[in-house]
Amino acid sequence: MIEYSITQLMDILNKESSETNHVMEVEVIELYQELDTYYRSALDKVETKLLIIDRELSSNSHVGRKNSIHQVQKRIKRFKSIVSKLNSKRLNYSKENIINNIQDFAGLRVICSYTDDIYILIDSLSRHPDVTILKLKNYIENPKESGYRSVHVVIEIPVYFLEETKKMKVEIQFRTIAMDFWASLEHSLRYKNNKENPELSEKLQAISDEINQLETQMFSIRNEIENLDS
Ligand code: GTP
Ligand code: MG
Repeated sequence: MIEYSITQLMDILNKESSETNHVMEVEVIELYQELDTYYRSALDKVETKLLIIDRELSSNSHVGRKNSIHQVQKRIKRFKSIVSKLNSKRLNYSKENIINNIQDFAGLRVICSYTDDIYILIDSLSRHPDVTILKLKNYIENPKESGYRSVHVVIEIPVYFLEETKKMKVEIQFRTIAMDFWASLEHSLRYKNNKENPELSEKLQAISDEINQLETQMFSIRNEIENLDS
């Protein structure tokens, strides 16, 4: 079992110490790669579940609504982000600490057409007998002060590997195209300007509300069209 302090890791990252212990460096990277392999498989499994639900919803025998899922994005948390998250929780770098304390090593972003699609997907996913919902944060009903809207769900699923079955956690962020438009641009703006700026924050909040109103208008047009069809 390997365990290193964050100070030791920082030395590796910054390549500061000239006698960086090569063995340690290899161990640290190997542990990250081992976890990467497992979490990638967990991401694939959850993505497949979502695509199966979406396919059935699109079929005429069901709701017949095409493109409930507009796009799925997957990512594995980068090594540097793992280290800084452990650091913020004052934890050492070890397999146990990562598995038990980092819920978003594997992250999916599911971009849906409309808000009701999000709830249909979460409801269907939660009915899968192998899925356990560990955490649900609804930032659509309760938007963040920034104006951020999405639903964050952390689930646990079993993944079958060669020698054992592992219960893996995956974080899924569900949002609509409109919410994603705001969140993506706001994220890159905040990245460029990380100083607190109340005036800009207020503008961004107001834009988030406007985007939400536009989405509501699109939603009511969709409902009118669906009612014409039926
Ligand atoms: P951490 O993951 O450690 O931050 O804790 P948490 O899961 O409790 O936090 P949260 O539920 O706020 O989710 C964090 C993630 O949501 C971030 O990595 C972003 O992807 C997204 N997010 C949260 N707030 C905002 C925001 O104001 N703007 C944008 N663009 N994204 C946000
Ligand atoms: Mg998170």
